[in-house]
Amino acid sequence: MKITVIGAGNVGATTTLMLAQKQLADQIVLLDILEGIPEGKGLDMYETAPVEGYDTLVRGTLDFKDAADSDLIVMTAGLARKPGMSRDDLLAANTKIVKDAISQAAAVSPKAVLIVVSNPLDVMTYVAYKVSKFPHQRVFGMAGILDTARLRAFVAMELNVSVRDVNTMVLGGHGDTMVPLPRFTTVGGIPIAHLMPQERVDAIMVRTRDGGAEIVKYLKTGSAYYAPSAAVAEMADSIVKDRKRVLPCCAWLTGQYGEKDLYMGVPVVLGRGGVERILEMPLNDEEKALFKKSADHVRATIASAVI
Ligand code: 2OP
Repeated sequence: MKITVIGAGNVGATTTLMLAQKQLADQIVLLDILEGIPEGKGLDMYETAPVEGYDTLVRGTLDFKDAADSDLIVMTAGLARKPGMSRDDLLAANTKIVKDAISQAAAVSPKAVLIVVSNPLDVMTYVAYKVSKFPHQRVFGMAGILDTARLRAFVAMELNVSVRDVNTMVLGGHGDTMVPLPRFTTVGGIPIAHLMPQERVDAIMVRTRDGGAEIVKYLKTGSAYYAPSAAVAEMADSIVKDRKRVLPCCAWLTGQYGEKDLYMGVPVVLGRGGVERILEMPLNDEEKALFKKSADHVRATIASAVI
């Protein structure tokens, strides 16, 4: 198992370390264009291996040739938000970065599964799909696990219960139109509407939607990376071990939820081949309308991207 992580910034480097600690590959290549950064971080992580006890060979490089024959590619490169910016403000700069990197990566690893993390996520996943020309099952994005993780954390804080017992689903685009689903949020199987007043439910849904911006506001110079990296590692685990986990991912829709020809966050079954199928949830009219609004927004952003 060979994994390439493109981008040695906070998300790329943290993801690489988490993948190594979970021993999800024999070899991880950390790739960037900034001379010295991937080599230095890669060597530092390989030197962590004797202490942590993982056998994964981590190596940093500037050269796409070193990424050849990867089984899994994680695309993290791109600019991150600064306070006051929306993810869509990154569109032009990150489209160029994703196009350049994915065309080179796809050429040397034509059989890879591709996880996109760069923002604006739904559009960058679309760009990666178009540029790689891979089947859509092998190109998808990380966002839903991060958004649901935030929602789960907020519910756990509110009720003083273990995060492990909070279950939920967040659909739609990874942006201001994302669709957290209170009706499908449970604690030990109990719907949260039975456990807290409606105004607390509403506040948690808003905080989830704004969860990325909350971190950007604190950090000022960049965006979140621990939870995003953990989310990528969870996806990689399901792919590498063919676990068929049911996880929210940014997947290519072919009619599900009444939408087609775009990437959106939906629950998928994730296995060795990538997205094996999309599960449809029984949404009510209000939830359907929110999903449609999110789809319209993603479609409009795709239309404004120059691919
Ligand atoms: C987030 O939600 C950066 O989009 C990422 O934190």
